[in-house]
Amino acid sequence: MTSSRREMLQLAGAGLASAAILPFTKSAEAQLPEVANSPPVTIVQRGINRELDVINIDLLESQARGVLSDGVYVFIATGSGEQWTLRENRRAFGDYALNPHPMGGIVRDRIDTSITILGERLPHPIFVSPMGSYGLVHPEAEAATARGMAKSGGMLCVSSASTIAMEEIARASATSKWFQMYLDNDAGLSREILQRARDAGFKAIILTVDAIGQSSSDQYADMGRNRPWLPYGNFPPGRATSFKTDLSWRDFDMVRNITGLPVVIKGVTRAEDAAAAVRAGAAAIQVSNHGGRSSDGSPAGITVLPRIVDAVHGAVPIIFDSGIRRGMDIAQVLALGANAVAVGRPVWWSLTLGGEGGISGLMDYFQRELIESMLHLGVNNIASLGREHVLLLNRRLAAESN
Ligand SMILES: Cc1cc2nc3c(=O)[nH]c(=O)nc-3n(C[C@H](O)[C@H](O)[C@H](O)COP(=O)(O)O)c2cc1C
Repeated sequence: MTSSRREMLQLAGAGLASAAILPFTKSAEAQLPEVANSPPVTIVQRGINRELDVINIDLLESQARGVLSDGVYVFIATGSGEQWTLRENRRAFGDYALNPHPMGGIVRDRIDTSITILGERLPHPIFVSPMGSYGLVHPEAEAATARGMAKSGGMLCVSSASTIAMEEIARASATSKWFQMYLDNDAGLSREILQRARDAGFKAIILTVDAIGQSSSDQYADMGRNRPWLPYGNFPPGRATSFKTDLSWRDFDMVRNITGLPVVIKGVTRAEDAAAAVRAGAAAIQVSNHGGRSSDGSPAGITVLPRIVDAVHGAVPIIFDSGIRRGMDIAQVLALGANAVAVGRPVWWSLTLGGEGGISGLMDYFQRELIESMLHLGVNNIASLGREHVLLLNRRLAAESN
């Protein structure tokens, strides 16, 4: 057994042993608040903080599953409806292969993964995608994620549906962060939250536009939507949140005007919508199907990415999420024209098992794997990745692109 494999197994044991201090594990679920908008949870308990040596995301997920209650696990892991899109997000990576290019004289230690996006230089292109309610899996919730991300210097995108308040998350680390907004039907409340995000120092607003349906998996519905509902730290306690679903470009203008910050549109899967976002003044586009949690039946991100890249023509950066699990996935989407990637579920598994150290271990894993792919592709910086570095294996897609 390799030493890293042994550490992983030891870690799984440590995770189980620590179940008693995690508030939302199998053993403690009975004490949880059952309904939305109960008084705010105070996050005071120090949770597990352990550097993870991540081998792959499947292993990480199965270990986290052993610690989490079934309700929380199924809520995080599954997609909407019959989960066709969730499966497709992984399958569609198989439409492409990497095209290795040896003999380029590339020195591994000199491979540069840095990027510049919205005027900011980052050491690597791997973002934590915005996700709500981290308090479900770790008592330090988003603060642990912020500290873990600060170790790698990567971009943390904070959800408006976070467990702890955005100001506390902003203070938890010195690195810059973006704030994701779910607009509320109460326009005044939305404006207030956006102004708070600007005042707390977030550098950009991500406007998520695809979370407009009921969207839970059949499996989760069948379990009676069985997870504790945590209050959202950014919304007034005791007041039912009602997210706005009739979104239009007028909402985009409002977000931009009220904050004066760059606005990223998240949830784009059509080339025409990407072009419209550029015309409207979006600072960046996040190609995403919400990790298969929004509209079941919609295509995988990687299927639509090349068309969107062509429509955007380099006018604004493109961030890609939905299904990223390995460094080779990152290399593929960057080669197809994305400028950065955002990671979803793997963040939950690493936060569950390691807290802050779990997040930094996860970023080490993705960076290590990305560097490995770049080495074999014969490139020593991100800008050198191009379409010549991927092979299109799917004949139907190949015929369409000719
Ligand atoms: C449990 C969970 C909660 C999420 N919450 C949000 C959210 O609050 N705002 C948002 O824009 N996206 C949210 N997402 C979607 C992610 O930002 C991202 O688009 C998706 O998870 C990426 O796919 P992946 O999980 O396959 O990496 C959530 C995803 C999960 C799994």
